[in-house]
Amino acid sequence: MIRIIVAVDENGLIGDSENNCLPWDNKEEIEFFKRNTIYDSLIMGRKTWQSLSFDYLEDRLNLVITKQPEYWERQCEIHPIYGPWFFETIDDAIEFSKLYKAFNKNISIIGGQQLFVDAIEKDLVECIGLSRVHGAYQGDIYFPVDLSKWFVVAAFYDRTFDYLIYAKKEKEKCD
Ligand SMILES: NC(=O)c1ccc[n+]([C@@H]2O[C@H](COP(=O)([O-])OP(=O)(O)OC[C@H]3O[C@@H](n4cnc5c(N)ncnc54)[C@H](OP(=O)(O)O)[C@@H]3O)[C@@H](O)[C@H]2O)c1
Repeated sequence: MIRIIVAVDENGLIGDSENNCLPWDNKEEIEFFKRNTIYDSLIMGRKTWQSLSFDYLEDRLNLVITKQPEYWERQCEIHPIYGPWFFETIDDAIEFSKLYKAFNKNISIIGGQQLFVDAIEKDLVECIGLSRVHGAYQGDIYFPVDLSKWFVVAAFYDRTFDYLIYAKKEKEKCD
């Protein structure tokens, strides 16, 4: 399944472009993100990759989208399997992930904003896993997806964030 995995605050905020970071410091949500995406193929924009304080997330394929050719020369120079691997388009990254059956359960598009727009416009996404972090934070990058076209199929509520799974209105099932 191809899904979006995102965390938003109560106003739909996802990022702070000035510092290229998340607007909040929420360890519980980060831990949940790691559990939720283990053995996935992760597709992310170049700025999101740079915002990670580590160079790849282990136990998953790290696929980074960039239009800068110099990155394409740097395939998996940090880890021979986990990557990061660099691609020009989301479609190229999806094709590549199919080569790695161990990371094929989910292809998770994890941001940022530009990548979410591209994935929705190309109608690639079957499901959205959205963490709603409690509170309102400072930042300037917002989740660009109109959730009125989606419906909640499952949810749980935690101390500092809630997690909702959305499916497209014509789809019935999503896990
Ligand atoms: N809350 C969340 O769930 C979440 C998730 C991820 C990120 N974030 C936050 O969001 C911010 C970063 O997001 P962002 O939207 O500014 O940047 P981004 O999407 O992570 O990265 C943008 C860059 O990725 C490449 N790119 C993106 N879409 C592309 C496409 N369709 N085709 C080719 N290349 C593409 C381009 O790289 P080149 O310029 O190299 O060509 C572009 O400049 C940070 O603050 C981060 O912390 C939040």
